[in-house]
Amino acid sequence: MNKITAAITCVNGYVPEHKLTNQDLEKMVDTNDEWIMSRTGIKERRIQNTPGLATSDMAVEAVNGLLKKRGITANDIDLIIFSTVTGDMIFPSTACVLADKIGAKNAFGFDLSAACSGFLFGLETGAKFIESGKYKKVLVVGGDKMSSIIDYTDRNTCIIFGDGLGCVLLEPNEDGYGIVDSILKIDGSGRQFLFQKAGGSLNPPTHQTIDAREHYVYQDGKTVFKFAVTNMAQVSADIMERNHLTADDVAWLVPHQANLRIIDATAERMGVGRDKVMINIDHFGNTTNGTLPLCLWEWETKLKKGDNIILAAFGGGFTWGAIYIKWAYNTPA
Ligand code: UT7
Repeated sequence: MNKITAAITCVNGYVPEHKLTNQDLEKMVDTNDEWIMSRTGIKERRIQNTPGLATSDMAVEAVNGLLKKRGITANDIDLIIFSTVTGDMIFPSTACVLADKIGAKNAFGFDLSAACSGFLFGLETGAKFIESGKYKKVLVVGGDKMSSIIDYTDRNTCIIFGDGLGCVLLEPNEDGYGIVDSILKIDGSGRQFLFQKAGGSLNPPTHQTIDAREHYVYQDGKTVFKFAVTNMAQVSADIMERNHLTADDVAWLVPHQANLRIIDATAERMGVGRDKVMINIDHFGNTTNGTLPLCLWEWETKLKKGDNIILAAFGGGFTWGAIYIKWAYNTPA
């Protein structure tokens, strides 16, 4: 029997309707469209502003669409890995909430926390379950309702993030398609540069933590930028080298969408032109765990069986990495 690899066999995504544009932000904080565009490449983001809706509700939309597309039911899913930093609650896991909402009775599942690298870590984890031979259908979900933890009086962070979510189905492949290689890293010494100060066991919520606005994202942007630009480019170059891939061999770079300047630096280091780079930051902003699957969703019809695809990300923690995929299917017309 040939070696089993984990192939992505279906992709779907969901973004809320409501758009938050740079012009809207100009009315909320001291910023302007020119600054945001030139420093980040973001024009607008989506916001889930319907009261009572959470991250799991975006997942229900995306996953139900995926099941329909693939022609399977929720009961066919063996495992749900939900990569997010904005789960519906601290516990139970949003994987549990999602399983209940879509009616997945035969799955186990869990949430995975790796900030903006969460989808990569989720893919790698899901792939190992498939490669074991025991699991046949693994759902990897990545997404965030970032608007639930963003301070819309802080111009350093509110211009960057948006809400959105994507998901992929992993299935066994015996012809060498799917996830070929990965390099994933964490360095917790970077944890003070991008984090949520309160709400966890270190600083449980109090009136004081709320008054100090400590339940929102804090980011030392300049420091994160430096680490992100260096590490995302390096790990992408490393995975190409390890797999003897030249820039010509790479069909697509799927980069985390934190800042267009970081994306460009990564592509440049790989020697890959802009025409091979998936970019959705202009219209979705940084959706944290959602950026990579949302790119795959938007570009799915352009992907061809056998395409060499490099996914790369960097996020809070610090966490970062790259995954090399040999795309497994042509999208039916
Ligand atoms: O996704 C997870 C990983 N996250 C990242 O990779 C994000 C990495 N960081 C970044 O993308 C960038 O650092 C930011 C986009 C967050 C900020 O861009 P920057 O070029 O690093 O700007 P800065 O923070 O160094 O600020 C430059 C200037 C400052 O003014 P002074 O001190 O030079 O007078 C800021 O006060 O721009 C000012 N500024 C703004 N001006 C207008 C900061 N934010 C804004 C704003 N509008 N929204």
